[in-house]
Amino acid sequence: MRIIEAKDYEDMSRKAAAIIGAQVLLKPNCALGLATGSTPIGAYNQLIDWYKQGYLDFSRVSTYNLDEYRGLSHDNPQSYHYFMNEHLFSHINIDIEATHVPDGSNPNAEEACSSYDALVEAAGYVDLQLLGIGNNGHIGFNEPAAAFAAGTQCVDLTESTIEANSRLFDHIEDVPRQAYTMGVGTIMHARRVLLIASGPKKAQAIYDTVRGPVTPEVPASVLQLHADCTIVADSEALALLT
Ligand code: GLP
Repeated sequence: MRIIEAKDYEDMSRKAAAIIGAQVLLKPNCALGLATGSTPIGAYNQLIDWYKQGYLDFSRVSTYNLDEYRGLSHDNPQSYHYFMNEHLFSHINIDIEATHVPDGSNPNAEEACSSYDALVEAAGYVDLQLLGIGNNGHIGFNEPAAAFAAGTQCVDLTESTIEANSRLFDHIEDVPRQAYTMGVGTIMHARRVLLIASGPKKAQAIYDTVRGPVTPEVPASVLQLHADCTIVADSEALALLT
């Protein structure tokens, strides 16, 4: 694991965007694995800026998002489909047909998950997977569990995740209880992984990810086994490591 320390959120965002931007420059038709949450917003804003300044071209890029709430339609403002359009896709020259998010509007979990797996596999997996991290060490929506999941699965969200994500909803009861998420196995197929983290709430999860045992109880710890994983985190998120 390569760890890059950033001064603060802004610095983390710029460094992460530089790595994603370099991937797009090196391979203009690359497949990017993308993430939602508050953490990647700054990096997406920076990518949009560089696109607007003419430094980046996304016309041949395809994207595969990690996860989606089960039961939310694509036009629901709380859905990750909506999030990605709002925070990135509608601001750059990406072909919207080449962007993919698990279909949370499909109530048939088995079909929604297997068709997403087939899609990612047919694409030959992603060149670069961007990840945030949950306070409990989750990646995508792979919550602490007894075993690592291989492919896309339907998961019950833990109370701590529901609580953490409720800040984005009017009422905590509105937070969906389930989600479709790429499995840890799918994430590990990415040729490169970039995990970003900011703020003191992430410090324990980052410590466990880097120094703890590799265990499905801390899903991100599996990244210790990835051949090309970079963590870009600010000093607050790295506080327990130094
Ligand atoms: C959600 C997402 C994750 C994300 C995590 C942390 O649970 N499914 O992909 O990494 O939240 O979010 P934030 O970046 O807002 O702290």
